[in-house]
Amino acid sequence: MGLYVLNTAKTHVLPMYVAASAAQFLSPFWLAKGLQLATRSFFVLFMSSLGVHALRNRVAPLVPPVTRQQQQQQQDASDAQPQDASAAAEGAPYAVVTGASSGIGRAIAADLARQGWNVVLIGRNRDALREHARALKREARAAGRRLQAHVVEADLAVDATPDAVYEQVRALCAEGTQPEILVNSAGVAWDCEFADLPEERLQDMLMINCVATTRLTQLFARDMKERKASGRIMIVSSITAAMPNPKVAVYAATKSYLTSLAQALSVELEPHGVGVTCLMPGATYTAFQARSNAAGARVFKHPRLCMTPEEVARQGVEGMLRGDSLIVTGWMNKLMVNVFEPLLPRKIGMLLVQAFW
Ligand SMILES: NC(=O)c1ccc[n+]([C@@H]2O[C@H](COP(=O)([O-])OP(=O)(O)OC[C@H]3O[C@@H](n4cnc5c(N)ncnc54)[C@H](OP(=O)(O)O)[C@@H]3O)[C@@H](O)[C@H]2O)c1
Repeated sequence: MGLYVLNTAKTHVLPMYVAASAAQFLSPFWLAKGLQLATRSFFVLFMSSLGVHALRNRVAPLVPPVTRQQQQQQQDASDAQPQDASAAAEGAPYAVVTGASSGIGRAIAADLARQGWNVVLIGRNRDALREHARALKREARAAGRRLQAHVVEADLAVDATPDAVYEQVRALCAEGTQPEILVNSAGVAWDCEFADLPEERLQDMLMINCVATTRLTQLFARDMKERKASGRIMIVSSITAAMPNPKVAVYAATKSYLTSLAQALSVELEPHGVGVTCLMPGATYTAFQARSNAAGARVFKHPRLCMTPEEVARQGVEGMLRGDSLIVTGWMNKLMVNVFEPLLPRKIGMLLVQAFW
């Protein structure tokens, strides 16, 4: 809310006010009166928009299964028949995470598993997924809980994969434990000029970042909406969505698509109890740089500009459970998305982006 006010004030109110005051000073009487009226109406509109923003329908916070069990145990305490915590964890709802074999998706899956969700880990690297599932189960056992962690090996660059993955997930989750959370973290990029972009890289970016994420989101959103129970969908975008980015033009464009999709869906699905969160990380230390030919990008060489996947996951999961529709991680990235992008002319913004890339 604070950022929204600051953003709107800086972007619209202040420049409008300065322009209107200057125009009033310079104009003839009748025009000055008209401008005064327009300025006042604008302020009334601005104040009402703040009101609408504050009253906007937001989903209720999603309570982690571990906390739900603790609350249930406290309620049952008077029955002198304490519940077995590990047995209760068996029936916990699922969180489905794509890109769970590495980086941000892997860290998000770990965060959700620690909070009591059973997990379905999706990716191509079966060994990495299995190793992660085993480690999460070990960690849960050490904490006295039981965890279901399934692995689905899938190539999301293939057209039919999202539907097949959805069917596999449905088969894995027992009745009553259907996925409560979907996290779309799988994503790829390729750093080079557009004319030199290999066709298969272009195809992968469009298929994995856009097509697969959209289809998976649709399949799970339908179920969540039908169940009328609270649910969450996270779409991992990027701060590159905020500004066209030469050298990673297609990647940035796919992330703009995802940001637009997530924000529209959050408004559509919130009345049905389903929160949609767009997570916009900035530079994050993962395998992504090397995999996307971007290891030389200047932004990854500045420790102050880079975050760890664990920190990105922590901020993302916290905001998603709270019901936030947009999360920009890190204050430098917030500055970029909320201040530079709206204030700077596009060409200057792109020069800034290029300076960091
Ligand atoms: N790292 C950054 O600086 C940064 C910044 C902003 C946004 N992001 C976004 O964050 C998300 C996660 O990236 P990351 O940094 O965690 O990168 P990462 O470590 O390279 O992880 C990418 C994940 O996507 C999966 N993936 C790639 N191609 C796939 C395919 N064809 N089918 C199924 N899964 C596939 C990978 O699984 P396999 O290895 O098993 O194929 C891997 O788990 C991406 O959407 C990325 O755009 C990253």
